[in-house]
Amino acid sequence: MNKEQPSPIVLVSGASSGIGEAICRLLIEQDYRVVGAARNESRLRQLAAGLGEGFYPLVLDVTDGAAVAGVQQALPREFHDIEVLVNNAGHDTGGRRLFDEGSAEQWCDIIETNVQGTIRLTRALIESMLARDSGHIVNLGSIAGLKPYATGTAYVSSKYAVHGFSESLRLDYAGRGIRVTEIMPGPVRTGFAQQRLGDAQQARDFYDSFAQCLRPEDVANSVLYAIQQPKHVEIAQLVVLPVSQ
Ligand SMILES: NC(=O)c1ccc[n+]([C@@H]2O[C@H](COP(=O)([O-])OP(=O)(O)OC[C@H]3O[C@@H](n4cnc5c(N)ncnc54)[C@H](OP(=O)(O)O)[C@@H]3O)[C@@H](O)[C@H]2O)c1
Repeated sequence: MNKEQPSPIVLVSGASSGIGEAICRLLIEQDYRVVGAARNESRLRQLAAGLGEGFYPLVLDVTDGAAVAGVQQALPREFHDIEVLVNNAGHDTGGRRLFDEGSAEQWCDIIETNVQGTIRLTRALIESMLARDSGHIVNLGSIAGLKPYATGTAYVSSKYAVHGFSESLRLDYAGRGIRVTEIMPGPVRTGFAQQRLGDAQQARDFYDSFAQCLRPEDVANSVLYAIQQPKHVEIAQLVVLPVSQ
């Protein structure tokens, strides 16, 4: 990074665990300034304690429309000009079940977080990016957004939506200095499966059913690769798989 320029500011949603936490750690190591957003305040505080003053912890529920719309105003002035937004917050709570086995509320909550959260946060920050003719939106999709599987109706729908949103957003702002990247990982060993299945042993069994899983740091490296490209290079999509897939 050019030491004479102030380091770019990155907002990472879902920063309190897994992939989001790994992205925050890597970007701070690389001298970015990072706003880490999530609901779990105590986890954010723990993270902030180890990451220094370049990290700003922000309690934010991406399904709270008013809070997301006011996100920039909720930040100290020195963190206002967000150059990169990483839409990472997501879950599949109650997933891996047949459609009729989950409630409508459960399925809709997945869409509200993974899709509407991504749309809301992007809408909240795009105007300041457009005003500066510069910005980068990185969306965490999934291979579930490329190929459906049984017992995945809401999660698969959410990641197909993230895929469509990313592709269309890139076209909206072609030539306006806004880059859009979609990262589509295969299985990553995080707290995601426990959140999905509600049971630690089932979560371990789920990850153990793959010959190999990615680490959250592998996905963080992909994000770094995409955002470190020269301004004229746009990494549109990255499909990131463990070698055995
Ligand atoms: N793990 C995988 O195998 C895998 C594969 C492909 C794609 N992905 C995607 O990668 C992203 C991160 O997942 P992960 O594996 O790192 O899972 P994780 O460890 O469970 O982390 C999910 C993060 O999302 C946050 N979050 C959930 N609901 C939120 C809300 N309403 N508002 C704000 N933050 C919220 C959680 O924080 P709080 O609870 O503190 O709010 C947490 O920090 C997700 O979009 C997921 O779909 C994961």
